Amino acid sequence: MPHENDSTINELISQMTPEEKIGQLNQFSASPDLHPDLLRQGGLGSLLNASGALTGQGFSDSGNAEISNHFQKLALESRLKIPLIFGRDVIHGFRTVFPIPLAQAASFNPELAGEAASVAAREASACGIKWTFAPMLDIARDPRWGRVAEGNGEDPYLGSQIAVATVKGFQGDDYAAPDKIIACAKHYVGYGASEGGRDYENGEISEPTLRDVYLPPFFAAVKAGVGTIMSAFIDLNGMPATADRRLLTDVLRGEWGFDGFVVSDWESVRELTYHGIAEDDAHAARLALHAGLDMDMVSGVYLNTLGESLQQGKLSAVELDEAVCRILRIKQRAGLFEQPFTDPAREARDTLRPEDRELARQFARESMVLLKNEGSLLPLQGFQRILVAGNFIHARSELFGAWTPDGRAEDVTPFDEALRQLAPKGTELWFTEAPDMALHMAHQVDAVVLVVGEHPIRSGENCNVSDLGLPPGQAEFVEAVVSLGKPVVLVVFAGRPLAITRQLAQADAVLYAWHPGSEGAAALGELLFGQASPSGRLPITMPRATGQVPIYYNSKNSGRPINRDALFRTRYQDLIPKPLLPFGYGLTYTNFEYANLKVSQETLRGSLEVSAEISNTGSRAGVEVVQLYVRDLVGSLTRPIRELKGFQRTELQSGETRRVSFTLREEDLAFTRADGTWGVESGKFHVWIAQDSQCGLQGEFRL
Ligand code: BGC
Repeated sequence: MPHENDSTINELISQMTPEEKIGQLNQFSASPDLHPDLLRQGGLGSLLNASGALTGQGFSDSGNAEISNHFQKLALESRLKIPLIFGRDVIHGFRTVFPIPLAQAASFNPELAGEAASVAAREASACGIKWTFAPMLDIARDPRWGRVAEGNGEDPYLGSQIAVATVKGFQGDDYAAPDKIIACAKHYVGYGASEGGRDYENGEISEPTLRDVYLPPFFAAVKAGVGTIMSAFIDLNGMPATADRRLLTDVLRGEWGFDGFVVSDWESVRELTYHGIAEDDAHAARLALHAGLDMDMVSGVYLNTLGESLQQGKLSAVELDEAVCRILRIKQRAGLFEQPFTDPAREARDTLRPEDRELARQFARESMVLLKNEGSLLPLQGFQRILVAGNFIHARSELFGAWTPDGRAEDVTPFDEALRQLAPKGTELWFTEAPDMALHMAHQVDAVVLVVGEHPIRSGENCNVSDLGLPPGQAEFVEAVVSLGKPVVLVVFAGRPLAITRQLAQADAVLYAWHPGSEGAAALGELLFGQASPSGRLPITMPRATGQVPIYYNSKNSGRPINRDALFRTRYQDLIPKPLLPFGYGLTYTNFEYANLKVSQETLRGSLEVSAEISNTGSRAGVEVVQLYVRDLVGSLTRPIRELKGFQRTELQSGETRRVSFTLREEDLAFTRADGTWGVESGKFHVWIAQDSQCGLQGEFRL
C-alpha cells in the first residue's frame, strides 16, 4: 500500500547500514546501566520507560521528561539522527488513575473511556511518553485469569466500542499533537483463552470463534487507526502468536490493511525457543521477523542475531526493510523527527487537573454495579449510626488496581475520609478494619457497610486464582456480621467477577466497586449516601462457582440446552445451571419497565429499527442501560443464543417514559460461515430489547 510520506522514509532507509536498520527494531528497558554508545550508534529504536513487567501498587517511579530528553539527546547524536520512541504501560490512567479497564467496560460508556484515555495521553506525553501499551482488547471468558482486570470483559461488541473510543482518546485525529500518544492494541490475539485461566498457558480457539469473538475488537482498533499492535505471549492452536505469520501478516496487514508496526510482548521473541518452535535465538528472531513482528521488546535477540542471519543469507533483506519502514512510518506520523523532545514544564501544568479528577470520579461512579438492594436499603438514609468495617477502608493506592506505575498514594482520599465528607449531617460513622472489633461494634449501630474483596495484587499479569470465592477469611467475616441481624451493605473491591454466591444471599445490598482508581472512594461514598445513583452493568458473567467457568452469555445452544424438557440436558449435578448474575446485569435506585417493542419491518433489507418504550416507574431519576440482542436461529454453523448488538445509556426522570430505538444493519448480522467466508445468511432472527442478557422483550424479523 503506498503511503503519504514513505518516499522520505524510503530515502532514509536507503542511507541506513544493516546495523542501523536492525537497531530500529529493538526496544530496551531504560536503566542506569544502558550504554550510551548503543544509542549513539543508532542501536535502539525505542525505550520502554516502564518500571518492569509487574509494576504497580504503591510503587511510583514515573517516567519524566528529563529522563526521556536525556536518552533522546544521545539517540540524536547518532549518524542519521533517528529519534527514539518512548513507550510505557499507561493502562487506565497515568497520574490520574481511572477505574480498571474491566470496570470501565461496566459503565457501558465508551465515550467516558475515550475521555479518560485522552487525559492519560496528556499526562503521559507531558512526561516524555509517546506510546502506550494500551488498550488491552483481550476477550476473557475465564475470570481465574488475572488479566481479566485489564480488558473489557467477555463481549466482542462492547469490547469493540471501547477499543475505538480509547484508540481515539489516546491518539486523537493526529498523534503528532504534543498531548497525544500512539496506542497499542494488545495482546494479539487469543491471550484470554489461556487454559485454566493460567497466564502464559497455551490455548485453542476454533477459527470461527477466533474471527467472531476474539478478533473483532482488534479489527475495530485497526479501523480506528491504531498505530501499533502487540503480539500475545500465547501459543494459540500450536503457533505462538509472536511467530504467527498468518495472523500478523495475512490477516492484520493483508485482510485489514494495518500499516503500523507490531511489537512483541516482553521477551516473547526469545521465548519462541521455550515454545519449542525455534532451535536457538537466531532462529527465533528469523521466525518472528518473517511472521511480521517488527520490534523486539527487550529480548535483544533481534539486536544480537539478525545481522549474522542477514550475512548468511538466511534473512530476507526486503522483510527487514519492511519492518524498518513500518517503525519509521509511525515515528514520522508521531512527529518525532520534528519534535523529539518534551517540554519539562508541561508535567506540572498538564497532570492531575481538577477536571481530570472529576472525570475519574464520574467514571468510578458509572462503573460500579449494584447487584442487590433489598428493601431499598441503599442509598443509606435515616440511619443514625453506621459501622464501616473491613478491608480497604483506609486504603489509598490499593484503590488503583493493577498496572498503575504512575499513580501516587498521596493523591488519593481514602474511603473513611471520603465517607466523613459525604455522610448526611447527624450521621455518626464508626470505622474498623479488625473483624473482632467489627463484631463487637456492630451490636451498637443501626447499619453496617462491610468492605471486602481483592487486593490489587490478586489481579493483573500472572495473578491468577484457582478459587473465585472471596479471599480467605472474608466469607466467615461476612457470615458473622450478617448473623447479628443488622442491615448489611456489602461493598466488594475486585479485579474480576468473584463467585460471591453466599454473600449475595446474605447481605441486604451489594455494590460491586472493582478497583475504582484515584477518586474511587468518593465515588463510592456518593453512591452509598445517594448523592449519585448506580448505573454500571456487568461486562462479564458472574459465575456461581469456580467450577462453572468458562461461562458466558453468548454461548451456543447445544443439542440439549438447559431449557429443553429432557432428562439428559447440559448441567452439573451440584449446581443450578445458570450464572449467579448474567452479563449486562445491574440495578439502580429506581425501577424501569419495558413495553411495546416495535420492529420496523418484518424483513430486514439493508437495515431496520427496533425500539421499545422504557419507563422509570420508581421515585428517583436513574440511568438505564438499554441493551439490544439478536439471535440468528438457523445458521450453516451454530450461532450464539444471544449477541449484543447495541446499548444506550438512557437517563429518565421519575415517571418519565421514552421510546429508545436502535438501528440494526445487515452487516451487524455477519459471521464466519461454514465455508469460512464472512457474511450473513438469510433466515429468521429473534431480537430483544433488554435489561440484561437473560431477559427482555422479544420480537423477530427475517433476513
Ligand atoms: C505485559 C504487557 C506489557 C509489557 C510491558 C508484559 O509483561 O504482558 O502487557 O505491556 O510487559 O511492560
